[in-house]
Amino acid sequence: MYHNNDTQSFGFATCRERWPKILSQAKSDVLAESTENEHSKQSTETIVKGIEQILDDIASDVPLRTFTKDELQAMGPDNQLEFFNEVIEGLAGDERKWLKGPWLFIECYLYRLLDVIIKTNGWTQFDIFERLKRETFMGSRGGVEEIALAHYKRSKETSVPTEEQMKLLFEEFIDISLWGNATDLSLLANATLEDIQSLQGAKARSAASDKILCNDLPKAWERLRAAKDGRIDIVLDNAGFEFYTDLALMLFLLDSELVKEVVFHCKCRPWMVSDTMIKDYALWVEDMKTMAETSSNKDALLHFVSSVEDYHSKGQFKLVDDEFWTGGMDYWNLSPKETKYGGKQLHEYLSQSTLVIFKGDLNYRKLTGDRMWDRSTPFNVAIGDLAHSGIPVLALRTCKADVCAGLPKGKDEELCKLWEEMGHEVGALWCSSGKWAVVSFNCS
Ligand code: F6P
Ligand code: MG
Repeated sequence: MYHNNDTQSFGFATCRERWPKILSQAKSDVLAESTENEHSKQSTETIVKGIEQILDDIASDVPLRTFTKDELQAMGPDNQLEFFNEVIEGLAGDERKWLKGPWLFIECYLYRLLDVIIKTNGWTQFDIFERLKRETFMGSRGGVEEIALAHYKRSKETSVPTEEQMKLLFEEFIDISLWGNATDLSLLANATLEDIQSLQGAKARSAASDKILCNDLPKAWERLRAAKDGRIDIVLDNAGFEFYTDLALMLFLLDSELVKEVVFHCKCRPWMVSDTMIKDYALWVEDMKTMAETSSNKDALLHFVSSVEDYHSKGQFKLVDDEFWTGGMDYWNLSPKETKYGGKQLHEYLSQSTLVIFKGDLNYRKLTGDRMWDRSTPFNVAIGDLAHSGIPVLALRTCKADVCAGLPKGKDEELCKLWEEMGHEVGALWCSSGKWAVVSFNCS
């Protein structure tokens, strides 16, 4: 497993540089919220102090604290904080410290701690990352219009696509949704809107086509075509532009009657800065309408929104959430054996799906247990027990962390060398740059 003191790992810089930046930004957003809306002075101060305490604890590398009895009680019985306590209590010595322990677990714990501090001070409906998510979406106009226009045009076509055309369209929408993940706010903390825009749109995608290092999409297509009246589940990642690209994929799947139903799985709480919560859907509708008001492509934007809302109201498109996605467990626990934290129920549901698409980097880390796999390890080995769970897994991931599997032999070595030649000190960090991607499928 990757640890925060592995100097060759992206975790090393993440906990020392990125987390403090994200937390400082969060502190400013709390202060801004307290002046815009009515909150008691005391609650604002306590939340700010709580965030400062985390910043201090990280800087001085103290051992992780468990959640208190009061916090457990205040947050309610179902929210899996006990699991975090169990794990923390089991971490010995340096393993329990902020800058030395297991990266993935501590990263999840960090966002849970932030959530607890905010909610136990009465700000139960406040999404600390909402402003950032919405602002970035509003800055994605170019990419948004391009996709809406293509959808508008297609909705007017009367000819039925051939099987081959359908396959090509499927590949295109998967591509759009895959690279939509390149605009993740936790990584782009310092990026300008121009930087972000350059990652969106057809041109950027076609330039990146040789950056997909392994591609199991044909197998996923076969499974999709063999199913009748199926259901696709998408375990979402980020709100904003990525969510919009996931909606474009959903529209394609339902418009072309490839499946009967598409279900989006969201997070129950603010998560890893940009992740999607159910309430972000209504905000997206609002933002699209605002964007349309000043757009020369108003009709296309509004048509996109009404098509989505139509499927939503008919129940063919659903948004659900589950505590499991913001728990501390990896996805090997999506299993009948996991009876305490919801793994069993989710397993039952997801194993009936035609395809379960896991979006983004964090989901990929949880699929592979964030273990230090040799990067040519077959995907079905790297996902452990999940490979035999009956859940049809399709991972769409731009690589933004160390773990990776399924690469052809020699590819990792080649990219390590290339990355060093490009002037980077640690070659292995090519895999955390967000410039390459993997599309991996497994079904038992
Ligand atoms: O801090 C690292 C991380 O958890 C990585 O997995 C990734 O860099 C980012 O945060 C989240 O990325 P994504 O939104 O694609 O899951
Ligand atoms: Mg994310």
